[in-house]
Amino acid sequence: MSTDIRDDTRAGFTDLFGREPEGLWSAPGRVNLIGEHTDYNEGFVLPFAIDRRTVVAVGLRDDRVVRVASTIADEVVEISLSDLTPSVLSGWPAYPLGVVWAFSEFGADLSAVPGLDLFIDSDVPLGAGLSSSAAIESAVALALNDVWRLGLDRRTLARVGQRAENVAVGAPTGIMDQSASLLGQVDHAVFLDCRSLESELVPLGLAEAELAILVIDTGVKHSHATGGYGERRAACERGAAALGASSLRDVTVADLPRAQELLDDVTFRRVRHVVTENQRVLDTVEVLRSGGGAVAIGDLLDASHRSMRDDFEISVPELDLAVETAVQAGAIGARMTGGGFGGAAIALVRLGDLSRVQVAVDNAFGEHGFGQPDTFVVFASDGAARN
Ligand code: GLA
Repeated sequence: MSTDIRDDTRAGFTDLFGREPEGLWSAPGRVNLIGEHTDYNEGFVLPFAIDRRTVVAVGLRDDRVVRVASTIADEVVEISLSDLTPSVLSGWPAYPLGVVWAFSEFGADLSAVPGLDLFIDSDVPLGAGLSSSAAIESAVALALNDVWRLGLDRRTLARVGQRAENVAVGAPTGIMDQSASLLGQVDHAVFLDCRSLESELVPLGLAEAELAILVIDTGVKHSHATGGYGERRAACERGAAALGASSLRDVTVADLPRAQELLDDVTFRRVRHVVTENQRVLDTVEVLRSGGGAVAIGDLLDASHRSMRDDFEISVPELDLAVETAVQAGAIGARMTGGGFGGAAIALVRLGDLSRVQVAVDNAFGEHGFGQPDTFVVFASDGAARN
């Protein structure tokens, strides 16, 4: 993280609140290497934390008021801790204040904690599918856990962030993004079992193999609080119920022929995506661990994208173009990342091919009349921390 954001956050806090903060905490956005729409099906995911972070400066108060401000909007939102419920929250403050509220859902006693001033800054692009929202939630969750001495572990803090997102923001998302943001480690991906919440760090070995992950942010904005995301989730639940399973985690590739007989075409294809995607996560982890290394996961990334495009139907023309063009220009593999309906794709690229892939994608977007994408390399980075 550049020291600039930390300096800017500290300065923003001091200018606004007229005193020094107690401290600064930060949390990263994430890229999901593979395992999409598997988290809320109790399946497997393999995201990593990136070198784009949200920073929160926190000051304790001697009353019960929480004030929150950010560089996202020119306003200071103020609320008493005693009045804080999800129903009074909306817009960007629902992320940080939703976290404050969500602590009480995990056994934290907030009846005597002091109020707070919070100032938030971030260099995680908004609405790009890189989990800017989980970065805010994770930074705030870690900060409050420290200043209020609540003693929750990081796995529980991820659930606090998810609860804020589900209830205060109203997006029915899974546990992947907050887990990546809180559990990430430099040069590693987080292999998470979303049923048990057990996680393991898997070395990516990108630098040694002279590889990089290129993010192609299409600029197509999306929101998971409305529309397609919730519909996909509902289709998965319907499919699992029709197959007599408590979740799609319990359906395997070998069960797919039976699923095809029982389910309507659309529900079957939604189920097939999740079931095959779970297997692709397991295969990717095995390849990375077996010494095949990241250079050998290209086909799995490509297959994941096809499955999201054709079976889960969450891609958009800009994402498909980014993926196809990157692979044609020499990327080892590419796929859209995150919840879909916009946002970013990732491409696994040899260092020597990076500029060729970037130029090819820029040109293709120009030829199709799409707005220019923002392309940049990301590095697997450490999770949330006090800075
Ligand atoms: C969004 C959600 C995650 C996950 C992904 C899709 O990022 O926040 O919980 O469901 O979409 O894999």
